[in-house]
Amino acid sequence: MSIFSAKKTAFLMSAAMVLMLTACGGGSGGGSALPLNNGSSTPPISPPPPPVVSAPANTISAKFHGNFLFGGALNSFQIDAGDLAVDVATAHFNSLTPEFQLKADVLAPTEGAYDFTRADQIVNWAIENGMEVRGHALVWHEATPDYFYEGTPEQIRARLEDYITTVVTHFRGRVKVWDVVNEVTSVDIYDGENGVGPDRDTGWYQAVGSADYIDWAFHAARAADPDALLFLNDYETENPIKRAWFIEIAQRLIDRGVPIDGVGHQMHLQPNSTATEVLAAIDDVDNQFLGLINHITELDMSAYDNPGECWVSQTNCQPDFGPVAPTEFLEAQAQLMRDLFNGLAQRPSVESVTQWGVLDDDNWLNFTPVERNNFPLLFDRNGNPKSAYEAIVDDDYVIGGGG
Ligand code: GLA
Repeated sequence: MSIFSAKKTAFLMSAAMVLMLTACGGGSGGGSALPLNNGSSTPPISPPPPPVVSAPANTISAKFHGNFLFGGALNSFQIDAGDLAVDVATAHFNSLTPEFQLKADVLAPTEGAYDFTRADQIVNWAIENGMEVRGHALVWHEATPDYFYEGTPEQIRARLEDYITTVVTHFRGRVKVWDVVNEVTSVDIYDGENGVGPDRDTGWYQAVGSADYIDWAFHAARAADPDALLFLNDYETENPIKRAWFIEIAQRLIDRGVPIDGVGHQMHLQPNSTATEVLAAIDDVDNQFLGLINHITELDMSAYDNPGECWVSQTNCQPDFGPVAPTEFLEAQAQLMRDLFNGLAQRPSVESVTQWGVLDDDNWLNFTPVERNNFPLLFDRNGNPKSAYEAIVDDDYVIGGGG
């Protein structure tokens, strides 16, 4: 399988895609947050041991060692292919998110028939290369076989708990962080206060008849691995309306004694995004909760401005820039990333920052909402650090100054 087709396969498998209706949108690097376990029936947990992770010299990992882990998403086909991305990940990351190997349609495409081969391969590879593994994701409305939704709510609960117990137990001690639920916050953000929040109307919600499946999932994960950190993960938390619902769900979990340790902010950014709006998401969580950890889980920045209809119907999308990124975009990306990483480093609750992919051409935005060259990450197609990377690691680097 060629590298390109492996990437595309990876993309297609992982992305029966999230319908992002507008501007779509590890670890424990030294932050002080403590896991919460507010009165749940599971035993109290002790803080996990410090991760044995690398911090390669002259890298983002090294610069922010003591602040947060830095990593990206990678898949096992890239490892098989000896992809350039694998070398870059090895040289730069101390955290890794398997792109799709830990999703339900890969682990258990048929009820009760588990296949951990690919997942074990990438999880073990990451650990052998000094990376902490973020498990993504136990419950999602995509990449989930239909059998999960069959039967009464009680049957669905038993099946979900069995699945989570099996998966989390299998990776106990190897996967340190789980995105327990992914994208459960309402996406109805266009009606302002008339929007229907906080819960998203998904296959899970409809099958169960409520959002109780979120509680079940967290309790099962905690019982299966009391040392793993458990996260609620979502996109567009930089949007204040959606963020309020996201925070409402987290608060509800805490009020009910559901064991949640942190929240993940995907951060799929746009050309007009700002570091300020991202940091506001972290600050709102910090101001609302005592001890909840923040992770940036899927950072990328599209070079394209897209009207809503581009996402919905693939019409009126900005034309392809071709293989060379506009200089203006690269400079804006560098400034945003510098401001963002420096701001994140000032916030002790931020313990992990993950970009979604490794090299620019690995990322889903090359195929979604339409196929175009995109430049969303910190390394270019040849594996070279981009201006954004230089701006992050070197405070003296002059953006637009020719290097
Ligand atoms: C969402 C999911 C990820 C991935 C991306 C697109 O953000 O959380 O797992 O599928 O979409 O690649």
